[in-house]
Amino acid sequence: VSVQLSDYKPYPFEVEQVDLRFDLDPDATKVRSELKVRRTGGAEEALELDGDGLKLLSIAIDGTPLEPGTYEQTEKGLAIASVPDAFTLVTEVEIAPSQNTALSGLYMSGGRFCSQCESTGFRRITFYPDRPDVMSAFHVWMAADKAAYPILLSNGTPGETGDLDDGRHFAVWDDPHKKPSYLFALCAGDYDVWRDSFTTMNGDEIALAIHVDKGDAERAAWAMDSLKRSMTWDEQTYGRAYDLGVFNIVAVRDFNFGAMENKGLNVFNSAYVLADESTATDADFEAIESIVAHEYFHNWTGNRITCRDWFQLCLKEGLTVFRDQNFSADMRSRPVQRIKDVIRLRARQFAEDAGPLAHSVRPDNYGSIDNLYTATVYEKGAELIGMLRRMIGEELYRKGTDLYFERHDGQAVTIEDFYKCFEDVTGEDFTQFRLWYAQAGTPEVTVEENWKPETRELEITLKQKTPPTPGQPVKKPVPIPLEMALLDEEGNLAEWTTILEDEDITLTMEMPDSITEAPLVSVNRDFTAPIRLNRSLTRDQRLALVRMETDPFNQWDAVQTLVKEEILALSEGSQAEPDDALVAAHAGAIERAVDDPARAALLTRLPEVGEMFLERQPADAVTLNAARKKLQSALAEKLSGFIAGTLGKPTPEPFNPGAEQAGIRALRTAMIVLLGVSPDAASADTLRKLYDNATNMTERLAALRAYTVQKGGKANEALADFESTWKDNPLVMDKWFALQATTGDAETVKTLAAHPAFDLRNPNRVRSVVAAFTMQNLAAFHAPDGSGYQAVEEIILKADKANPALGARLLTAFEQWRILEPQAKAAAEATLKRLQAAGLSSNAADIVARALG
Ligand code: ARG
Ligand code: ZN
Repeated sequence: VSVQLSDYKPYPFEVEQVDLRFDLDPDATKVRSELKVRRTGGAEEALELDGDGLKLLSIAIDGTPLEPGTYEQTEKGLAIASVPDAFTLVTEVEIAPSQNTALSGLYMSGGRFCSQCESTGFRRITFYPDRPDVMSAFHVWMAADKAAYPILLSNGTPGETGDLDDGRHFAVWDDPHKKPSYLFALCAGDYDVWRDSFTTMNGDEIALAIHVDKGDAERAAWAMDSLKRSMTWDEQTYGRAYDLGVFNIVAVRDFNFGAMENKGLNVFNSAYVLADESTATDADFEAIESIVAHEYFHNWTGNRITCRDWFQLCLKEGLTVFRDQNFSADMRSRPVQRIKDVIRLRARQFAEDAGPLAHSVRPDNYGSIDNLYTATVYEKGAELIGMLRRMIGEELYRKGTDLYFERHDGQAVTIEDFYKCFEDVTGEDFTQFRLWYAQAGTPEVTVEENWKPETRELEITLKQKTPPTPGQPVKKPVPIPLEMALLDEEGNLAEWTTILEDEDITLTMEMPDSITEAPLVSVNRDFTAPIRLNRSLTRDQRLALVRMETDPFNQWDAVQTLVKEEILALSEGSQAEPDDALVAAHAGAIERAVDDPARAALLTRLPEVGEMFLERQPADAVTLNAARKKLQSALAEKLSGFIAGTLGKPTPEPFNPGAEQAGIRALRTAMIVLLGVSPDAASADTLRKLYDNATNMTERLAALRAYTVQKGGKANEALADFESTWKDNPLVMDKWFALQATTGDAETVKTLAAHPAFDLRNPNRVRSVVAAFTMQNLAAFHAPDGSGYQAVEEIILKADKANPALGARLLTAFEQWRILEPQAKAAAEATLKRLQAAGLSSNAADIVARALG
């Protein structure tokens, strides 16, 4: 069964007010809901409410209990055929949070109540029109045992509190802002709280609080700091201030994804809240900063203005990712941020767009909404906003967002509504641009250059083509903004932007007399468009680009392309050993960037095996991995002096998580990685010392990993040491599991899954083994004998039984099966078919059915 965008119909009733009463008990929570309803549609319309797994205790309209037969309860909810034009509906239901292993709706984590309602969790709490275009004012009363649950939280502003009989107490929360049910939240338990305050640009004083596990309060300091910087940034960059007197964050251990932007009560996976230097890496600090910002920014792009239906998910997610990426760029380094965003886009979104799960940024149908929280909706969605801003300029972009906030505040809207604001401020027509939202697949742009020495003319032909994707065999051209430049040894000869709107375009550039050789063309600078570039350059031309590029993104990308071609050549056997000139050029680029260590670190990165899947098919993960390693060792050898020099200096002290120190540690970490693959016999001892003496988790973990990769005799001893030090810290233990899953093989996965600390109910732990293995250890996962698939099959099946969102997400690792070399391909297909036959949740079944095609 699939839902179609074209079937959208407004809800025929308005819910003017929602009054909820929760009597909290892990095994039997009673939820009383009182809805003030008014008919807005036709008189014949029945009242239909969503409900999932609810035990109905009573139902009444305007104080009169409904007779059986006047309403109908189904799998999907409740329907009352005949209701007055305005009425009050009261329902009472019972739910069991302790039995809720799907982590959707109201559930228990670490002995505390917490909720997750996006997209369809609220219907697991009470009967309600659980759709984003029904916005209402929520009033919440809740009661719980006072000793076990001293802190009671919901959305909005706190009201009355007090004690009840039997050791229970109650609290009232009132949210003045109308919101859809997916933004409802409730948390209750015993927490330690890290508090602070913020004064908005309007002079309002906001009480900020982050609720964490007992003993963890200080580890929330960085998240709090990130929150305050996010609040300032949104005021300065978008003119948006916070709109309630309190802002609460709750960290929970069992959570299906990163975090959730519930109004005034953000709920976070604890992995994205807790950090200090001894337990978190710089990557963790960076992720916390960006996710805290992301959820905070949703207050305007998502909450005050929300989505009319779930097809519009990118309206809030693409825009909010774009906002958080720019926040991070302003907090750190813009070029480095851009490179990292593109790495992520290419790794996850390009693969998705090229496989059987490809879908457009705004899809027009879906089988399961949970499966639409994808890299395409989020990351490609953000790229589209980035292109929009580049095409109209910052000033008009800001005018457009101002108009959007003013025009649609308090509404549930569509992508068309959003673009109408930009059409109104620019006078332009974005109809063709919006094709980017409707067409799946990554456009490929082919660049051809033709130099005519007689006339000193350079002809540049750009052609675009988007490959077919499931259900979309034929694609139209999309407008592709490409920042371009011509380069020679002196620098830029010319810079301009071309918008490739048609299938192809030819530009003719006339060079002055002084130019006697064809200049190099720099295309898609700063990665202006989310496309794949096709260029047939010689190795010498590529080496020249590495030397001459003036755009920091393209300079990095020139190295990536060069290195990628080399890995492919090595893997295909057209070359036995890495080319020395190439390795020297790569090493030189790294050494020259030493004054910008974060960028230097990124330059040492070799393209991941998965990225190369898109270049050569059938894809052979094992061979690619071996070729990649070979080149990496050659680089390590070439850089041995630089590695020793970098690691010989002391790491910065005292620790600071900011960009400057993080950059230095990134370069040190990159050198540690190289040391792990270096042929130098002394490297094992160096690594062991780096592990023992590290003063922060970033370097400790890097050293442990490199040491493990060497598979020397003592690696197990170091792993055991790490385990005994951190066995009581679940987030650090996740790293321990992930480290082994990404460096080991199928047997390692089986051993990890049998470890007493492996917990099928904890998504972080499951992902630290399964997703780490399937997404970051492709050579072992796609082993031709099928052992990698077999190692995860059982775990995924069990995870899916308890938690369909988790099961479905893990299965997306199979999306590339069709392009694999024949043995792995056959094994993957057989695994998918076995899984399908074994009985999957509907979320997981949706992924597998689409993957099999
Ligand atoms: N809105 C949340 C965020 O972007 C993510 C919610 C994910 N929900 C889901 N059903 N997958 O921060
Ligand atoms: Zn989001």
